[in-house]
Amino acid sequence: MDVSPAPRQALLWALALLLALELRSLEARVHRDADPGFQEAYFEQLLDHFNFERFGNKTFLQRFLVSEKFWKRGEGPIFFYTGNEGDVWSFANNSGFILELAAQQAALVVFAEHRYYGKSLPFGERSTWRGYTELLTVEQALADFAGLLRALRRKLGALDAPAIAFGGSYGGMLSAYLRMKYPHLVAGALAASAPVVAVAGLGDPYQFFRDVSADFEGQSPECAQAARDAFQQIKDLFLQGDYDTVSQEFGTCQLLSGSKDLLQLFGFARNAFTLLAMMDYPYPTDFMGHLPANPVKVGCERLLSKSQRIKGLRELAGLVYNSSGLAPCYDIYLQYQACADPTGCGLGPNAKAWDYQACTEISLTFSSNNVSDIFPDLPFTEALRQQYCLDTWGVWPRQDWLQTSFGGGDLTAASNIIFSNGDLDPWAGGGIQSNLSSSVLAITIHGGAHHLDLRTSHPEDPESVVEARQLEATIIGKWVEAARQERRLAQHTRPRG
Ligand SMILES: *[C@@H]1O[C@H](CO)[C@@H](O)[C@H](O)[C@H]1NC(C)=O
Ligand SMILES: *[C@@H]1O[C@H](CO)[C@@H](O)[C@H](O)[C@H]1NC(C)=O
Ligand SMILES: *[C@@H]1O[C@H](CO)[C@@H](O)[C@H](O)[C@H]1NC(C)=O
Ligand SMILES: *[C@@H]1O[C@H](CO)[C@@H](O)[C@H](O)[C@H]1NC(C)=O
Ligand SMILES: *[C@@H]1O[C@H](CO)[C@@H](O)[C@H](O)[C@H]1NC(C)=O
Repeated sequence: MDVSPAPRQALLWALALLLALELRSLEARVHRDADPGFQEAYFEQLLDHFNFERFGNKTFLQRFLVSEKFWKRGEGPIFFYTGNEGDVWSFANNSGFILELAAQQAALVVFAEHRYYGKSLPFGERSTWRGYTELLTVEQALADFAGLLRALRRKLGALDAPAIAFGGSYGGMLSAYLRMKYPHLVAGALAASAPVVAVAGLGDPYQFFRDVSADFEGQSPECAQAARDAFQQIKDLFLQGDYDTVSQEFGTCQLLSGSKDLLQLFGFARNAFTLLAMMDYPYPTDFMGHLPANPVKVGCERLLSKSQRIKGLRELAGLVYNSSGLAPCYDIYLQYQACADPTGCGLGPNAKAWDYQACTEISLTFSSNNVSDIFPDLPFTEALRQQYCLDTWGVWPRQDWLQTSFGGGDLTAASNIIFSNGDLDPWAGGGIQSNLSSSVLAITIHGGAHHLDLRTSHPEDPESVVEARQLEATIIGKWVEAARQERRLAQHTRPRG
């Protein structure tokens, strides 16, 4: 039978519609699988774990996220992310590997927010004002995590479920410290890109910016040289008093003048390189800003795309400060705020809390020197830190407290910790990069940027991170199994708690 044109077209339309619906439902299915189903909740947390008088038993609300989606009650472990210096959702959204592992190992997943960040504010919006920060310490944060974990175990009837701590960067430090301080609560820790050595005031102050520079040098020597040239041209124009040319070519909102502006401009520009190096992932990300795939490569292309170096530098900086393409000019004081962390604190209340931490326990005295790196000479010595911290917060930093409290890099007495680092990550040099014992292990990820291993698997992942994740999964599985065995053996010999 002959099908007339009109019905044939209708048939095609119907087929197309069916196909579209099918695709849509496939998309929904994929999306649903990817949705970890986090529930947001708050825990009534003690304000002060270490004093009984000033705050008594007063509490604040600590935010956390839980996903029971993959959990096999009575069997699966607890994967506990020790939140760091920001909104807990931003870590949950950028640590998909933990959920992939939870799916494999039937784990409950918890992401706990760090006190003084996100919505976990002990004194509301005043929390990061001077005079309200006294309860912001690493030790208080760890005690929060320990208390929350115990409460969750009780509430969920999971007293026997082994827990593993996870974290990236400062959160990675916290996951390792949690295992060290509370080994009865967590059976092991995956500490990704955790600079435990550097933050304890140890190591080479030029390491960080040298390693940022190495990423650009590795991209191409021309790129590194162009960056040096751009900084030198800015400096020369300043020395000649020709501030207007710099303002105009770099595109600053205010006209520049004098050495204060020069330092701010240098800090602003150096920070763009820092972020590109840390976030040098092989696919686009929305973690710290909105960045394209391989941002170091793209940054270099931009830098070299202009015959005038200062204009090239402006283009490179645009990846970080003009990702919307809507900034007519750079407000160098508003878009970058110098603080006690020369690798950048970010902006807003979270940045203030981090500044305070960098003024107290966490040492980040990194300098660039225009010798072992491509940046201008921008020193941040302990003396400069002390002055800044006294002026800003009225506190005196304790440079070696983290050595006393957690051992710095001397962790041979610890157990069941994986320190993973990517060799593109400027933080790697401040962390643990060799195996310290049979259970304090270092994993190096070739071609990996800042805690790449914690991110969701991606087709563009280098083989090394695929292998690293497999090794991590195997080791974590063994820790969980060993913890379970220990529980079984101990069950009839001692009480639980
Ligand atoms: C807190 O302390 C008060 C006494 O100051 C006491 O009455 C109260 O029961 C305590 N609350 C908790 C939860 O321990
Ligand atoms: C996290 O992801 C959710 C869902 O995609 C999104 O709505 C939210 O804005 C993200 N939050 C952060 C802080 O990245
Ligand atoms: C870096 O050092 C070189 C060589 O000493 C010097 O010519 C240049 O001006 C310096 N650059 C900056 C930005 O200070
Ligand atoms: C930001 O991007 C837009 C679009 O590319 C450009 O017109 C503008 O000049 C950029 N701003 C700066 C400060 O370079
Ligand atoms: C540490 O040991 C693990 C497991 O034995 C191994 O895979 C890894 O390569 C070692 N790390 C280093 C940095 O040698």
